[in-house]
Amino acid sequence: MSKRLYIETVGCQMNVLDSELVAADLLAAGYELVDSPRRADTILLNTCSVRQHAEDKVYSALGRLKHVKTQHPHKIIGVLGCMAQKDQRKIFRRAPHVDLVVGPGQLKQLPALLERIAAGEGPQIEVSLERTAGKRSSVQASFTGHDPPRPPQARATPHQAMVRIMFGCDKFCTYCIVPSVRGPEQSRPAEEVEQEVRRLADGGCLEVTLLGQTVNSYRDTTGGRTVRLADLLYKLHDIEGLKRLKFVTNYPRHMTAELLEAVRDLPKVSPYLHVPVQSGSNRILERMKRGYTVETYREMLAAIHETIPGVAVTSDFIVGFPGETEEDYGQTVELVRQARFKNSFIFKYSPRPKTRAFDSYEDDVPDEVKRRRNNDLLAIQNAISLEENRRWVGRQAEILVEGPSKVARKRADEGSVTQLVGRTVCDRIVVLDGPEELTGQILSVTIEKADAFTLFGRRPVNPAI
Ligand code: 5AD
Ligand code: SF4
Repeated sequence: MSKRLYIETVGCQMNVLDSELVAADLLAAGYELVDSPRRADTILLNTCSVRQHAEDKVYSALGRLKHVKTQHPHKIIGVLGCMAQKDQRKIFRRAPHVDLVVGPGQLKQLPALLERIAAGEGPQIEVSLERTAGKRSSVQASFTGHDPPRPPQARATPHQAMVRIMFGCDKFCTYCIVPSVRGPEQSRPAEEVEQEVRRLADGGCLEVTLLGQTVNSYRDTTGGRTVRLADLLYKLHDIEGLKRLKFVTNYPRHMTAELLEAVRDLPKVSPYLHVPVQSGSNRILERMKRGYTVETYREMLAAIHETIPGVAVTSDFIVGFPGETEEDYGQTVELVRQARFKNSFIFKYSPRPKTRAFDSYEDDVPDEVKRRRNNDLLAIQNAISLEENRRWVGRQAEILVEGPSKVARKRADEGSVTQLVGRTVCDRIVVLDGPEELTGQILSVTIEKADAFTLFGRRPVNPAI
């Protein structure tokens, strides 16, 4: 049997990582990765449930695959990830041509499940327990971590990697589906994380991004000693070959002085913090059960800026949360204007079944109001991003070159010079011209131009290469 695998991923970085890990497992089981569903024998969709829109995209992709399955009945179609955990058997009912449904806590089973399907055992489903289905320990055990070693070809770029340090979430913000689809919060043992990062660095990886839904509440207590994120950063910092360390996503209430000092004192740790605030109104924050006020968030921001010079802070916002008035929204605008985030991700509230907000509040902000608030807030943020980026013009920035830019890949540039893309330590995207061989190098470039999303850089006149 030929084993050609195509994986499509929607959702957050955690999902991108899961897809890489699935690819690594299946490469080890003899599969080959292909870049289109047409060329594949196994088509996997790794899905997201955070907003209705993400789910609609998957159901319409499944609709398109129905025809593929009719013409090629031997092709295996699988739905992985958060929507698999949320909708479970409903996926088979809505899309009867699906062969496989696997939740994010069961991905380890995937190679065996594919074998069963190939052996003619019919559709397979593997999901974790609902959070209310039993004792915390049994629910926790049903979300098994799976972080196998992965070859560079399973990753997007060989010089960068994501490493999971936590699973799940216990915060239960009222709008959020994550605690129910990704299960209870669990921290990976620090030793395991260290080994994984060491292995990646030995294989030439220069930059590691540590992932967790609330990464700064990391707490490993194996072996009787408590290791917090700040301690983990110290441990990882010593790893030879590793040049840069980042971590996402932070929860505002757990931004401790120790952590900020670690970011300041460890040169390999990027001065870049993603700390979503979600709203600038205390009334809305209370309804979201975020566990902080705008005042405490502002104090935290002040502490970040005081402790870490040159830091870049980014945030997420939800507009049109149930009950959000013009006045509440105005307070969000005020916060965006004051905070001067490097950038913000702004979302329209999307009611999610199985969440507190869905059960308790009516989705009472009309869609056109949500859309207007979303567009207006984005325009305000983009103007700030542009001003902040322009401050870089004429300055030197140290970048890690990630490879040819999207434009260069589309143009299929030939010859010695192409358009490259890299990132500063504070996560700003820099585009520059240079040979592809610069990929994986850390360079100093002069910033010549800036827009709201990108800096445009130039290499020194007499570069080494
Ligand atoms: N509706 C809209 N946006 C949401 N997010 C999480 N849940 C919802 C929802 N129900 C946003 C939050 C979070 C980001 C990953 O997605 O801003 O930080
Ligand atoms: Fe990621 Fe949340 Fe979407 Fe799951 S639901 S993929 S955890 S953003």
